[in-house]
Amino acid sequence: MTDRTFDLTRRAMMEGCVAAAALGATGLPVRPAAASPGPGDPPPEMMPLRLTINGTARDLVLDTRTTLLDALREHLDLNGTKKGCDHGQCGACTVLVGGRRINACLTLAAMHEGDAITTIEGLANGDELHPLQAAFLHHDGYQCGYCTPGQICSAAGMLAEVEAGWPSHVTDDLTEPVSLTDAEIRERMSGNLCRCSAYPNIVAAIRDAAGTKL
Ligand code: FES
Repeated sequence: MTDRTFDLTRRAMMEGCVAAAALGATGLPVRPAAASPGPGDPPPEMMPLRLTINGTARDLVLDTRTTLLDALREHLDLNGTKKGCDHGQCGACTVLVGGRRINACLTLAAMHEGDAITTIEGLANGDELHPLQAAFLHHDGYQCGYCTPGQICSAAGMLAEVEAGWPSHVTDDLTEPVSLTDAEIRERMSGNLCRCSAYPNIVAAIRDAAGTKL
């Protein structure tokens, strides 16, 4: 490779990195171009569906390709669950299904008939905040707040996993009950990104809500 070829290659790579960083800095989800239906393509298949959201049965008729995230936000007006990347990378869309946390952008609504789905709107008990919601407020566990519903739902699922004794990648002693150290919280919450970097306060809030002030 000549020096000039190397320079051009390196410049192209740097420009690509800067462009990608600028795109990410807009805060907008990065989407592939939508494929347009071609002539002769079959129409969307619709199906009736009953979802149980926050204890209430909701009847819908959806395109079978609708994600659970779009069903919540676009069809049920439950906008507390956020769409960040829409690719399973940021955790903003985390909800609880049967008490377990999942990314709602990565699962189809049609797969959840009969499941008990809990969104951020279903965590509080009337006017009484869920302990995690109260702790996030108390510890300023957010800045812009966009990732917060996902953080809180994820933390609720994560604490249940700890309670059930599930080890994580950083659990040292598999023979003892899991100790909820900061390292454990960070590891277990690593699927939930915060662009404002409120991580220290998020960890403090979760530790506080778990009642394990270390
Ligand atoms: Fe980012 Fe679902 S929207 S993981």
